[in-house]
Amino acid sequence: MITLGIESSCDETGIALYQTGRGLLSHTLHSQIAMHSEYGGVVPELASRDHVQRVIPLIRQAMQDADVSLDQLDAIAYTQGPGLGGALLVGASVANSLAYALDIPTIGIHHLEGHLLSPLLSDPAPEFPFIALLVSGGHTQLMRVDGVGRYELLGETVDDAAGEAFDKSAKLLGLGYPGGPALSLLAASGRPGLYKLPRPMLHSGDLNFSFSGLKTAVLTLVRQSDLPHPTPLPQAGEGTNESLREFQIIEQTRADIAYATQEAIIDVLAHKARAALAQTGLTQLVVAGGVGANQMLRSRLICDIERRGGRVFYPDLEFCTDNGAMIAFAGALRLAEQQGSKDYRFNVKPRWNLEQMVSAL
Ligand code: KG4
Ligand code: ZN
Repeated sequence: MITLGIESSCDETGIALYQTGRGLLSHTLHSQIAMHSEYGGVVPELASRDHVQRVIPLIRQAMQDADVSLDQLDAIAYTQGPGLGGALLVGASVANSLAYALDIPTIGIHHLEGHLLSPLLSDPAPEFPFIALLVSGGHTQLMRVDGVGRYELLGETVDDAAGEAFDKSAKLLGLGYPGGPALSLLAASGRPGLYKLPRPMLHSGDLNFSFSGLKTAVLTLVRQSDLPHPTPLPQAGEGTNESLREFQIIEQTRADIAYATQEAIIDVLAHKARAALAQTGLTQLVVAGGVGANQMLRSRLICDIERRGGRVFYPDLEFCTDNGAMIAFAGALRLAEQQGSKDYRFNVKPRWNLEQMVSAL
């Protein structure tokens, strides 16, 4: 059975073909990062218009790469929510109209379920049950996963998501969008131990998170350090040793603050992930969502959890951030449970909580 997957919930158009029993046949992606970076964040209307332009050529490309023709498609899965309303509508309408023309079923997928199941695409893959740490731009959740559609929310952020904490702190440090990769790159030249940032709710005794206080603490540090924003580059001809030295000091301070910020976020994530394993007695941790691409988080979790006899699983880096493969894959798993439909009326769910989805099944 071949499933076409369409992801268009935010700033990436992702398309993939997944064949049950064989695996991923192809996947294509267009990221809108360059387009939005000029504005410092995603502009929803621009995102929708770009999805409209990209989706058909990307589908054609994916089909050509996999050498699959339209009449070989068995079903179409698309991201139904959560995400930007207009962007979601692009994927949903293309999926349903194409499926109607081909007389094949469609299935709407919860974006987080796509992330949650994406480590199963890698080798070695985790086995149910496992704990999933979902860390994206909009969500920070710890879930117990007992099978496809069997998810229990153990804890989540009470305010900002971890990705948001990266993005907002990066902005305060004068970095571009998306802030996570930029901040972690800057942090690589930062020195440990120079600044101490708060770790909110570290010892709250539950599995919830809070990151909104962190950006205020970063703002205070940036102000106290008197950082110009953005850092002025020494001008040609002005290359006196003194101006160069001043530039280096500012850059080093920004890197040290970036290091402290990344360390604070990762400390909390690692602590709560460990607590979730201890509380449930499970041994496998799956990390999914864009922040899962962070190398420091990866090595910290591997070190903390594998030392205690547990195992940590990550999706391949290209499947950490938004992509079509996770949607095609989640769709194929759900279609195997007869959950597709040939009722081509559709709606999208910009706000959709994963637990609501589970209880509606
Ligand atoms: O899952 P995702 O691609 O989109 C959402 O569904 O939100 O996650 C995007 C988030 C952004 O906040 C981005 O800054 C963050 O993931 N991110 C990272 C890294 N790569 C992406 N955060 C920290 N380190 C990274 N290497
Ligand atoms: Zn995502």
